[in-house]
Amino acid sequence: MFLETGSGRIAFETHGDKKEKSILFIHGFPFDRSIWDKQAALLSGDHFAVTFDMRGHGGSDAGSGQYLVEFYVDDVIAIMDHLGLERTCLCGLSMGGYTAMRAIDREPNRFSGLILCDTKSAPDTNETKLNRANLIKTILAGNKSQFADGQVKALFAPKSIENKIPAVERIRAIIESTSDTALIGTLIALSARMDMTESLTRISVPTLIIVGKQDRIATLTDAGEMHAAIKGSRMAVVHEAGHLSNLENSSEFNAALLKFLSTNNL
Ligand code: MLT
Repeated sequence: MFLETGSGRIAFETHGDKKEKSILFIHGFPFDRSIWDKQAALLSGDHFAVTFDMRGHGGSDAGSGQYLVEFYVDDVIAIMDHLGLERTCLCGLSMGGYTAMRAIDREPNRFSGLILCDTKSAPDTNETKLNRANLIKTILAGNKSQFADGQVKALFAPKSIENKIPAVERIRAIIESTSDTALIGTLIALSARMDMTESLTRISVPTLIIVGKQDRIATLTDAGEMHAAIKGSRMAVVHEAGHLSNLENSSEFNAALLKFLSTNNL
């Protein structure tokens, strides 16, 4: 399904009955909504689960290629309005987590719970900004495969690269099929994102932080800092997983997700 926005079409999918409690999933960069397939299927029996493609990813239009996390939040709210979701639980991984943190700070009354996966509240360091500049140069030079190789190495735990070949190949294919415009536009948007650290103390809904034990992009330390700052939050460490904890070890990830949702009646 598609939602027409002033900035292009957003592709989204719903799973389960709309009368059930809802949960909206936001994917990371540079993936698409299919990274949440296992979680959406798991929850579809007793939840209304929504997944969508961020601007320029999957089936969503790249539009102008000029993005900000603020615009991603606009898209989340537009999807909720379109589906008539007054309030929902929000689950975001990495870039999806950056978006979720900004969404709940902007619209605190629209969210009933928060799940922050493999993400961090801090903005880019200067080193990360320079890395992003180099990635943009690589893409502009026409070397998207080199970009994809580097991403795969950084995203997955070393063992997953050897043992989870279908997942690794799927992610590589998604990256290679994402347009240069969207990749570059998103890298700039991520570099320009706000520092959300101070906003964490304002979060008042049940919150779960999930992190892959071997995540090198958003580390255990980043997760621990968010856990310490968000009152009453829970934290789950997913073993044998890097940055894509929901794909690399979906059974541990899903167990933590289910426990959190049922404990908090979400
Ligand atoms: C992601 O998975 O969304 C990215 O790793 C986020 C980032 O590059 O900061």
